[in-house]
Amino acid sequence: MTAMLASKRAREKPPRLAAEVLAWWDVNRRDLPWRAAPGMVADPYRVWLSEVLLQQTTVAAATPYFLEFIRRWPDVASLAAAPLGDVMAAFAGLGYYSRARNLHACAKAVAARGGQFPQSDGELRALPGLGAYTAAAVAAIAFGARSAPVDGNVARIYARLHAVEAPLAKARAKIAAIAASEVPEARPGDFAQALMDLGAIVCRPRNPACGACPVSARCAANAAGAPEAYPRKSAKPPRPIRHGVVFFACRADGAFLARRRPPEGLLGATLELPGTAWQVGQSPDPRPHMPFAAAWRAAPGLVTQAFTHFELRLEARVAAVPAGFEGVAGALWIAPDDVASAGFSSVMRKAVEHAARQWRGA
Ligand code: ADE
Repeated sequence: MTAMLASKRAREKPPRLAAEVLAWWDVNRRDLPWRAAPGMVADPYRVWLSEVLLQQTTVAAATPYFLEFIRRWPDVASLAAAPLGDVMAAFAGLGYYSRARNLHACAKAVAARGGQFPQSDGELRALPGLGAYTAAAVAAIAFGARSAPVDGNVARIYARLHAVEAPLAKARAKIAAIAASEVPEARPGDFAQALMDLGAIVCRPRNPACGACPVSARCAANAAGAPEAYPRKSAKPPRPIRHGVVFFACRADGAFLARRRPPEGLLGATLELPGTAWQVGQSPDPRPHMPFAAAWRAAPGLVTQAFTHFELRLEARVAAVPAGFEGVAGALWIAPDDVASAGFSSVMRKAVEHAARQWRGA
């Protein structure tokens, strides 16, 4: 190599992270129903809807919901015009139900603007339910803004590339700054999606496929021989266990008693079986909460569900509805065929199935 060529090479910056990640993505991108074809511009409604549905969940879990939403409400105007109850019911099972309310409120806000989503990160953040991540994702993917959405997958990639020693909760600002510095001028939306795919397919939480990674040569965690050791974990206090009892009151025609939770708060506005409050410590006394006096039988076993801040253990009691019992005001009677579409949360669907098994077996 001539001296001149050698010094030119030395002055050249190595290819940017984005160039390597995009080259990988052009071959390995996932074909997802909200994505535009290569080189095409994505529909902001689909991008926004997908990002809301994907919060706190996987592509596999969110995709059927996305397809059903698009089938029923193909554009933002139709979603805005839908009754809130229909949107809540379509969301049931995905968790975090305040998202469903915000989704509907956001659709209305956008419809009121003539159906056009705003394009800037700042204006997007002002819409209901759009936090920093979602606004940045929509701005980049739908509008080509040079924003850097950082979700758990993307944070993991940067924590590994730079062997960030602080746990994620403490390293947010640092990782956000690194992420912002890597956004390319061309194709920022593709880069955002490429990182999402890299995090899901290659830079996985466990068993990362470093041999298939386009940027493993730049990865400090890989160089240290310990990619899985990053992001560093913070010591978490154990989740408290809450206990509750639900009642499955069944009529002769098979319909059972249900009620709607208050609109705000945990599992807001979803359907549930009547029951006790969920308390830490021991199982609550169910007697004051029985819908009616009867010989309630305990279903053996428990229904469990992990929530962010606690673990829930539910017992179920079953009984036949006595003749003449109508239920208190607001009581709902759910036919077995309607359980899937009525708007129960995941945990309550499990509780219904658990109690119904006991009921049928009795
Ligand atoms: N996770 C969150 N947003 C995503 C997207 N747009 N594509 C794939 N995975 C995602």
